[in-house]
Amino acid sequence: MRGRPILSASILAADFTQLGSALQAAEAGGADWIHIDVMDGHFVPALTMGPFVVEACRRATRLPLDVHLMVDQPETLLTAFRDAGADALTVHVEACPQLYRTLETIRDLGVKPGAALNPGTPAAALEDVLPLLDRVLVMSVNPGAYGQPFLEGTPAKLTRVRALREAAGSTAWIEVDGGISPETIGRAASAGAEAFVAANAIFRHPQGIQAGLQSLRHALERSLAGA
Ligand code: DX5
Ligand code: ZN
Repeated sequence: MRGRPILSASILAADFTQLGSALQAAEAGGADWIHIDVMDGHFVPALTMGPFVVEACRRATRLPLDVHLMVDQPETLLTAFRDAGADALTVHVEACPQLYRTLETIRDLGVKPGAALNPGTPAAALEDVLPLLDRVLVMSVNPGAYGQPFLEGTPAKLTRVRALREAAGSTAWIEVDGGISPETIGRAASAGAEAFVAANAIFRHPQGIQAGLQSLRHALERSLAGA
């Protein structure tokens, strides 16, 4: 694990009538990145946010915007998300027949490239693009909604991704997304994850956004200390 692990707060579970103050609370509570889940109604059934929301987030926080594109043909949208202020653009391996070219395009736009793997997609699908990646996003739920349970096969998958990264000499972050809570974050960290996306555990925490972040950070620190 390098440096401090990253908590990426997914606004998918935020109160959109209060988005600005939710982002400020996430920043004050120690979030490292803001995760924005873009869904197109095709790659996944749900339809969520587009560049306008990214642009609004850009005005509301200084934190890096970690944009997760759950869309078909993401190539057509990359420039719009870059112009809206995305710091990282993660595309799904399953949605990109020309994955290498798509990642080169993201890099050439001056944005950090990421590739995401659905639960059914083998880790090896990333092997030949690792040199281009700033981050690998391992889905620990089926993409499409917040609040789903962590899939138990995820730690083994994270271990395989980590081994591929080491073998390639890559510096890509290993990011895990879905069902991350104080109960599951330690297992993901022990298996090699370094960046943790959470929506429900942060934005729907009964004691508020800052309490949600603190509770994740404490659970992570306990697991890294071997407690
Ligand atoms: C799922 C999204 C996730 C989601 C995580 O399709 O990619 O980022 O917001 O939500 P939780 O943390 O509630 O599982
Ligand atoms: Zn996501």
